[in-house]
Amino acid sequence: MAVRRIVLMGNESLRGVAAPVDDPTAPDIASLAKDMRDTLEEIDGVGLAAPQIEVAKRVVVYRVPKFRIPAGAKLQPIPWTVMVNPAIEPLSREKKPIWERCLSLPGLYGRVPRYVHVAISFQTMDGQRVEREARGYHAMLLQHECDHLDGYLYPMRMTDMDQLSFVSELVDDGDIFSYQADEFDG
Ligand code: NI
Repeated sequence: MAVRRIVLMGNESLRGVAAPVDDPTAPDIASLAKDMRDTLEEIDGVGLAAPQIEVAKRVVVYRVPKFRIPAGAKLQPIPWTVMVNPAIEPLSREKKPIWERCLSLPGLYGRVPRYVHVAISFQTMDGQRVEREARGYHAMLLQHECDHLDGYLYPMRMTDMDQLSFVSELVDDGDIFSYQADEFDG
């Protein structure tokens, strides 16, 4: 088990465009994905992109555990998923603002417009090509993680910087803590 350090906003690793993986079945990709999962498990995280642990490769690991889904939401838990060379495509014109956090910006929350419906295509570590569609929270998560592969952090996608806050300063005014039930509609 190898828990890796997650680098923070400002680190050079988060700025570049990560390189495509030539061979998704290579042992170094399996080892990278294992470290990413170990790192997420250590902190009960949901998603991580390889540049966040200073590896400039197009690899994302994520899952949506049951405890992250609010009561009443339609989203089902998503098991551990490793995406190699993911490519995302919007299937809606509509974007909806959704509250996001990022492990590279600890303590912050921001409201980010995201496509509500996307298609994603990626390779597995067996070299299979997988195509899926995602909506709502799941679609947001995929856009957030794939953005890391191109050097984008969520504040760079925000259109209203007034909606960037420290979590510690937010009060439960019926917005931040109730948004999930409204927008976890994947
Ligand atoms: Ni992030």
